[in-house]
Amino acid sequence: MDQIKIVGGNRLVGNIPISGAKNAALPLMIASLLTDDRLTLKNVPNLADVNLLSRILRNHGVDLAVDGKRPGVTHLGETFHLTARDIVDTTAPYEMVSRMRASFWVLGPLLARMGQARVSLPGGCAIGTRPVDLHLDGLRALGAEIDIDAGYVIAKAPKGLRGGRVLFPKVSVGATHNVLLAATLAKGETVIENAAREPEVGDVAACLVKMGCQIDGIGTSTLHVQGCNRLEGAVHTVLPDRIETGTFAYAVAATGGDVTLEHTRIDLLEKALEVLDNVGATVTPTNTGIRIVRNGDGINPVTIETQPFPGFPTDLQAQLMALVTTARGTSVIRETIFENRFMHVQELARLGADIRLHGDTATIKGMPELQGAPVMATDLRASVSLVIAGLVAKGETTINRVYHLDRGFERLEEKLTRCGANIVRVGAG
Ligand code: UD1
Repeated sequence: MDQIKIVGGNRLVGNIPISGAKNAALPLMIASLLTDDRLTLKNVPNLADVNLLSRILRNHGVDLAVDGKRPGVTHLGETFHLTARDIVDTTAPYEMVSRMRASFWVLGPLLARMGQARVSLPGGCAIGTRPVDLHLDGLRALGAEIDIDAGYVIAKAPKGLRGGRVLFPKVSVGATHNVLLAATLAKGETVIENAAREPEVGDVAACLVKMGCQIDGIGTSTLHVQGCNRLEGAVHTVLPDRIETGTFAYAVAATGGDVTLEHTRIDLLEKALEVLDNVGATVTPTNTGIRIVRNGDGINPVTIETQPFPGFPTDLQAQLMALVTTARGTSVIRETIFENRFMHVQELARLGADIRLHGDTATIKGMPELQGAPVMATDLRASVSLVIAGLVAKGETTINRVYHLDRGFERLEEKLTRCGANIVRVGAG
C-alpha cells in the first residue's frame, strides 16, 4: 500500500490548477441514466471515486467513452461521453455501492426511467451513521413504493413517478440530488423545499435544464421541477472543485506561502475564504482564479461551526483544524453535520497538536510548531488535513492508507511539488 512522505517547512509558492468538482461530477454522471441520448461531461477529474462510478454505470448499461487529452494540457480534466441507450440492469450491487455512498444516487434516476430499481444500502466514509431516510421519504412523496430487503432498497413505480411536494426536515445534499434527478421524469411538477443549496446541486440542475427539464429556483432552497416524458443529451462542463480549492488555500496559509489557485471561483467558497481572511491570509480574485498569500505575522485563531452551504463546509473542517494547530491562541470548531467527523484529531495529536474534544466541539490550542511523525489516513478529508499538517511540521511525516486521498484529490503530490513542497509517494510493498 502506498504511503506519502512529507518533509515539512517549505513555503508553497507558485500556481495550482484546480480540478473539476468530484461532488458534481458524480451526480452529473448519474444523470446520464435519465436519457437514451449522449451526455457529454467536460472537466471530469481523474479520481478513484469517478472510476468506481464508471464501473457501476457500465453495469447498468451505460456506454462510456473518454476522450484522449492533448499532450501538455494537464488542467482541463477528462471529457466523458455517457450514453444510456438501454438500461440492462436496474440492480446496483452491494460490492460496488458499499464502496462509495454517492453511488446510491442511481436509485432515483433508475426508478424514474425504468419504474423499478434495486440498490444496496450504501457505505462510504466512516464519518457517522449517514442514513438514507430522507432519500426514501422524498421518493415516496413522488409515488414510489419502497421496501428494504436483505440490505437492498427495492423501489417500484409501475405506472411511473408523479410530481409531488417534498419538504426535507434536514438539508441533505444526496437526498436533494436523488429526488431532483427522479423528478425530471415524473408526471407533473415537483416542489423540493429545504433543498441543499450547495453549488454542486446547482451545477446538476443547470445540466438537467440543458437536457430539457424546466427547473426554477436553482441556487435557492426551493426547487420547482417540471417533469417531462423524455430528456435529451447535452454538453456540460463540471464546475471547479471548491473543496480542493479550499484545501490548497488552507495549505498555503498554513505554510505562509503565495499561490494562485487557477481555474476556480471565489463565489463557490465565500465562507471558507472569509475564514482565511480572519486567520490572517490575503485572498484576492485574479483573472483566472484566486491568489492566497500569508506573510509574516502568524495565524490567528478562529471560532466556527460547520453548516450547509452557504455556511462553512464540513468537507473543510479537518483542513481548517490542521491550519489552526499552529495559531497564536485557541480555536473552537464545532461539527454540526456529521457526528463522527473528528478522526483526524488523534492523528493531528501525534504531530504535537493540542486538541480537546467535547461532543461535537473541538478546542484547539495553537502550538509554536508541529513535529513530523507516522500517521494514518482515516477518511478522505481527514487524510488531506494530515498532508497540511505534514507540510508545516518539522521533520518527516509519513501518511499511511493514502488510498483515501485518491478518492478525492487528483495529482495531489504533483500539484504541491510544483509549488515547492517536499512530498513524495512511495510504495510500501
Ligand atoms: C455530501 C457530499 C459530502 C459532504 C456532505 C455534506 C458528495 C458526493 N458528498 O454527502 O462530501 O460532506 O454532502 O455537505 O457530494 N442524512 C440523514 N438522512 C438521509 C441523508 C442524510 O439523516 O437520508 C444526514 C446525514 O447523516 C448528515 C446530514 O444529513 O448528518 C447531511 O448529509 P448529506 O448532505 O446527505 O451528505 P451526503 O450527500 O452523503
